[in-house]
Amino acid sequence: MQYTLLAKDKNSEARCGVLTTAHGDIHTPIFMPVGTVGTVKAVHARELKEDIRAEIILGNTYHLYLRPGTEVLQAAGGLHRFNAWDRPILTDSGGFQVFSLTENRKITEEGVIFRSHIDGSKHIFTPEKVMDIQRKIGSDIIMAFDECPPGTSEYGYAKKSLELTQRWLERCIARIDATEPLYGYEQNLFPIVQGCVYKDLREKSAEHAVALNRAGYAIGGLAVGEPAEDMYAMIEVVNRILPQDKPRYLMGVGTPENILEAIALGVDMFDCVMPTRNGRNGMLFTTEGIINIKNQKWERDFSPLDPAEICYVDADYSKAYLRHLIKANEILGLQICSIHNLAFYLWLVREARKHIMEGDFLEWKNRMIRKVTTRL
Ligand code: GUN
Repeated sequence: MQYTLLAKDKNSEARCGVLTTAHGDIHTPIFMPVGTVGTVKAVHARELKEDIRAEIILGNTYHLYLRPGTEVLQAAGGLHRFNAWDRPILTDSGGFQVFSLTENRKITEEGVIFRSHIDGSKHIFTPEKVMDIQRKIGSDIIMAFDECPPGTSEYGYAKKSLELTQRWLERCIARIDATEPLYGYEQNLFPIVQGCVYKDLREKSAEHAVALNRAGYAIGGLAVGEPAEDMYAMIEVVNRILPQDKPRYLMGVGTPENILEAIALGVDMFDCVMPTRNGRNGMLFTTEGIINIKNQKWERDFSPLDPAEICYVDADYSKAYLRHLIKANEILGLQICSIHNLAFYLWLVREARKHIMEGDFLEWKNRMIRKVTTRL
């Protein structure tokens, strides 16, 4: 896996580059649609490639381990073969999901004991096991097993949690370096920087991760209840330490505004459930602003979903028709909203990339933020 930095903005930390993987190139900055259980909900692989122009998608270790399970995935020849997506796949380690099962899990030095949200069965995730599962899934990018404490955690807890995450990271690395890919192509581990909203912990975490010399780095534990200003401040602190020649992935973020601000701070990769989850609820992100398609005001609005016509659904369907579909709980409504929102997020990062290349990123970003935060 090779990251080539192609341009850097003069007036901010924004950058663009290419990450070369065994399943193809990823042009950064990039947004990665979330496909938790091996499917980006309501969207075909063909639509992801051709209409949305996604270059990499996410899967989740916790969900894929519970269902369909690693035996089925291995028998299929890995997730790429199983779900008909032949471009890169990144899997989250399951740390985040397991920790959100607050009632049903116990953290120990060894790992996390938890109960399945599906059938209540008991399982343990250790750093070693989570690396083995991601090898079996066949992820191009494997995430370290970390603890993601709440955004409101006190310093004492944040410090203890980070120390555990660091010991787990070293175990993840030992396991990855001692094992081989199962399907003949390269798989790379990204460490995750933690440390809540505490500058010294974030610095310590970033320095520890960088010393382990991996192909890329993630920033975790943000957008978990802390104010946006704290999130931006932590990104700045961490990105001062992360190397320029490796990709930086901000986990689980965020709104179009968050993504534009984080690009300006030097982040290269993003994922978030917002375009799909909020989309299925009738929230559309457009080049003119945010639309709640359920509102009465769209009842007789036969104009295209987005006048910029980024994707075919924008031109083919009107706001009034989509409103009708969502109000009537029609499956096609969920599909159109998901395709539109993902196409919008991918368009947004491609535009950011273009403006970084052209040298006017900062002015464009400030103009764009005014638009994407407008409520229509
Ligand atoms: N997704 C969003 N934030 C995080 C995080 O801190 N850790 C992991 N593993 N996944 C995340």
